[in-house]
Amino acid sequence: MSGKNYSIETKCVQSGWQPKSGEPRVLPIYQSTTYKYDSADDVGALFDLEKEGHMYSRISNPTVAGVEKKIAELEKGTGALLCSTGMAAILIGVLNITSAGQNIICMTSVYGGTVNLFAVTLKRLGVETRFITQSMTDEEVEALIDEDTRLIFGETLANPALDVFDIERYAAIAHSHGIPLFVDNTFPTPVNCNPVDFGADIVIHSTTKYMDGHASVLGGCLIDCGRFDWTNGKFPELTEPDESYHGVSYTERFGPGLAYITKARCQLMRDFGVPLTPMSAFLLNLGLESLHLRIERHCSNALAVARFLEAHPKVESVSYPGLPSDPRYKTALKYMPRGTCGVISFCVKGGRDAAVRFMDSLELAAIVVHVADARTCVLNPASTTHRQLTDAQLEAAGIPAGLIRFSVGIENVADIIADISSALDKA
Ligand SMILES: Cc1ncc(COP(=O)(O)O)c(C=O)c1O
Repeated sequence: MSGKNYSIETKCVQSGWQPKSGEPRVLPIYQSTTYKYDSADDVGALFDLEKEGHMYSRISNPTVAGVEKKIAELEKGTGALLCSTGMAAILIGVLNITSAGQNIICMTSVYGGTVNLFAVTLKRLGVETRFITQSMTDEEVEALIDEDTRLIFGETLANPALDVFDIERYAAIAHSHGIPLFVDNTFPTPVNCNPVDFGADIVIHSTTKYMDGHASVLGGCLIDCGRFDWTNGKFPELTEPDESYHGVSYTERFGPGLAYITKARCQLMRDFGVPLTPMSAFLLNLGLESLHLRIERHCSNALAVARFLEAHPKVESVSYPGLPSDPRYKTALKYMPRGTCGVISFCVKGGRDAAVRFMDSLELAAIVVHVADARTCVLNPASTTHRQLTDAQLEAAGIPAGLIRFSVGIENVADIIADISSALDKA
């Protein structure tokens, strides 16, 4: 499989676990924390990173490795690290190259949990986040970048405002300052967008969303696209000897393509201990096998729902970059020609109260703190996922208090629209 230029559909089904003759056809669940060796030298070589293999499932596990391989191929990357959640992947991803006294640049519109991690928790650890909006000029963004800036971070499709991240523009800015562009590609998934094609260096996923797609397992993934030059003098943590790992230089020992992920695994996964479990990896892999089919249906259903909402007299505004009338449609077509995602944001006339009445009247769509599930679901971000944000932060992130985040599932679209229609009648 690897090395061949298969299409995304084939990779979803076939990449990752490649059984040899007589081995199980399906990715086996290696439900073992530990691995057995014939000699002390064998295991010593693993600790010295001289030999490939598994020593302890906090660091790596064969089931998890099979899925990491698949996701790396889906994102055209050189390596991937699966984590227990999307938040864990973001934490490890940023801290892998950022220390106290340094800073990062981030879009204000990203997921509320990410804003909180960056603005509050990383700040307490001495890492400053400088928030930007896409309406700022390049000069205004560049004025925030200094010698201590480590990366620029954005979401391909921001949750929940659905802003389309102009990846090429921010990749150019980042690269002109010798720093990488991090892109959280959770909403479009690699089926609809490969950020590396537009210059992204590190891609992150909350696999909890469409990749699993069945609301069964939490997970996150960090992927190195293998294009960034970590040896440009700005990243001594990757090029200089790591005292906590027998003085290894990650770029020298593993090459530029594997240095970042190897360090994240051997150092931060070792220290933070937030791995994906083998059982979760197995379930995630089942989800990935149908990702391409589900995403296609999520997108076609969402477009039909968005068109219905747009024409409805009780709906104040609809935000869906897949709608031709949406101001972000052209940019969305550039980055996601196959479609955007199944999530729509909209406001019902009458503000927060009408939004609550609408949600309470739905029968098929369930109120859940989740999106990107096969089952249609709905949420009011201001009172749930984003309630930690102040009104000013909500405003900056483009999330009015009455905004409804509607995650269109893969049921029959006529049933979904009938449910919305009858709930709007009652709103
Ligand atoms: C875009 C995005 N990134 C990251 C996360 C965090 O992922 P997790 O909930 O798996 O920790 C979420 C969660 O909703 C998200 O929507």
